[in-house]
Amino acid sequence: MATYPMNTLRTDLTWTPVYATGISEIDKDHQYLFDLIANIISKTQGHKAHRLNYWEPKLSAYAAEHFIREERLMEQYLTDWPQRAGHIQEHRRYWARVANLKWTYSESDFNEFLQKWWTGHVLGWDKAMGVALQQKFTE
Ligand SMILES: [Fe+2]
Ligand SMILES: [Fe+2]
Repeated sequence: MATYPMNTLRTDLTWTPVYATGISEIDKDHQYLFDLIANIISKTQGHKAHRLNYWEPKLSAYAAEHFIREERLMEQYLTDWPQRAGHIQEHRRYWARVANLKWTYSESDFNEFLQKWWTGHVLGWDKAMGVALQQKFTE
């Protein structure tokens, strides 16, 4: 969902309130994930084995937990929300892309993918989910 105009697309992994969904457990996850990705990018340059064996499994494990947390919230509170299915599908697509890119892309292209995917997904899909959840909570 391109709710964020391309010319203002942010890829900055320093978490600021621009990325806030307003749901504290989700925002905490995003802050942790952004830090983790920033670490992967800065600490694994030229250390491919360390990256593949240590950092990426760490990111995947946390990302999996995080997607489940969001999907549970949507299941619980946003069953009729039209964007729910698309959002879940975006999470599934992430795994498919990671599986492909991990082996075929250069390290810098993969870093760029991680950075763009996470910042773009949070600004688009996750923020929209945050708005819908907050509406539910104040109904
Ligand atoms: Fe998220
Ligand atoms: Fe999400």
